[in-house]
Amino acid sequence: MTEVNLMEKIVSLCKRRGFVFPGSEIYGGLANTWDYGPMGTALKKNIQDAWWKFFVTDRLDMVGLDAAVLMNPKVWEVSGHVASFNDALVDCKKCKARHRADHLIEDALDDIKVEGLEPADLDKLIENNKIKCPDCGAHDFTKARVFNLLFQTLIGPVAKDSSPVYLRGELAQSMFVNFKSILESSRKKLPFGIAQAGKCFRNEITPGNFIFRTIEFDLMELEWFIKEEEWEKWFDYWMSEMHKWLDVVGIDSKKTRVREHDKKELSHYSKRTADIEFNTPFGWKELYGCAYRTNFDLKNHQEKSGEKLEYFDPETNEKFIPHVIEPTFGLTRSVLMVLLSAYDEEEVEGETRVVLRLNKNVAPFKAAVLPLMTKLNADAKQVWKKLAPHFATDFDVTGSIGKRYRRQDEIGTPYCVTFDFDSLEDKAVTVRDRDTMKQERVKIESLQDYLTKNFNV
Ligand code: GAP
Repeated sequence: MTEVNLMEKIVSLCKRRGFVFPGSEIYGGLANTWDYGPMGTALKKNIQDAWWKFFVTDRLDMVGLDAAVLMNPKVWEVSGHVASFNDALVDCKKCKARHRADHLIEDALDDIKVEGLEPADLDKLIENNKIKCPDCGAHDFTKARVFNLLFQTLIGPVAKDSSPVYLRGELAQSMFVNFKSILESSRKKLPFGIAQAGKCFRNEITPGNFIFRTIEFDLMELEWFIKEEEWEKWFDYWMSEMHKWLDVVGIDSKKTRVREHDKKELSHYSKRTADIEFNTPFGWKELYGCAYRTNFDLKNHQEKSGEKLEYFDPETNEKFIPHVIEPTFGLTRSVLMVLLSAYDEEEVEGETRVVLRLNKNVAPFKAAVLPLMTKLNADAKQVWKKLAPHFATDFDVTGSIGKRYRRQDEIGTPYCVTFDFDSLEDKAVTVRDRDTMKQERVKIESLQDYLTKNFNV
């Protein structure tokens, strides 16, 4: 299976089995928007729930937030996003294709990172290296132009009276502007964190590669508030927690690497950033990031809002603005990397078996009950009723048992539970393991325990 093939196979499986569909498809779609179908919704939600458990509810030093997508536009001015949240684009003069200048250069030249370079420097790199348009091969581009990624919309029904606002480009800012309220209401002591998961929007110049880069995406982010002198220790700590998370969610850590941002590439707020990259079929790409944001955001918000955003240290009687380490996790990107890690094909009795070896934590269904014949549907349904309150269980009655196994393999269901004629007599069912395809007879009364002991939830 070639890498390009793998991507095509995943996109096709996602459509066929109800993970991800092109957005507004019956109207010809809307470029780079995707809708999550029944399986994709469950997978995405399970990943988010696992993240929330690992980073929030399993800890005493983390609290949650669910803030509004729309914020006072001053937030984005003060955070520096209005001035600095930019990308440069070039147009091919021959075929009119639009490209992000940094991606064009990075895809053409090995191991070069150009984020943060001025448009004139990007033009020079394109010119000097004779970089060609990936779409038509011409070497004739417009000069690089800078675009702001913040997504603008209007509040107010009458266009001429309405005021422009931004859909949030990251979650972090709502954690900073709510810092004081959270500190006062939760009475947490440093170090502590605020976590949030939700939608973000960016006017990306060149979205693409399926759900990898989209204009609307889900993010999971946490701001970890600390004393300045401890930042290096906490940066290392969070990089290590991020690596543990890869195993929790089932992202193949052998396909990941850490890449430090060099000085020019650092975001306007960051003193150090390291990305966890994943080796995708379209190259090494950013999966997650960890940034030392210093006290840049809280300091600016304090200055411009006039609200004190300081922390009082009861041990030293000192007041100071905390510094921040920020681990950030694309949720929709996680979905893609989980799928890329889990997709597998093998030959079984002369046929290709496609199987998603999803981590049991995040699989849309943990088990599926399959009555062998229609006549057994009513009795088999009683088994489903016993399992459904404890974990997501499918009840699959259509097609031959072989076809149903294949369908459940393709959506990553760890266990198929077949109810046959013997089940009526021996009060037992056959449990088939997705990965080994081994089958075992299990008493119905102990089925729930049998399955639960194999889940890591
Ligand atoms: N608060 C820091 C921040 O937003 P970022 O590197 O710009 O940092 C965070 O974005 C994460 O969001 C990335 O590591 C990536 O997983 C995800 N991400 C960024 N842009 C995205 C897009 N257009 N589509 C999908 N995911 C995206």
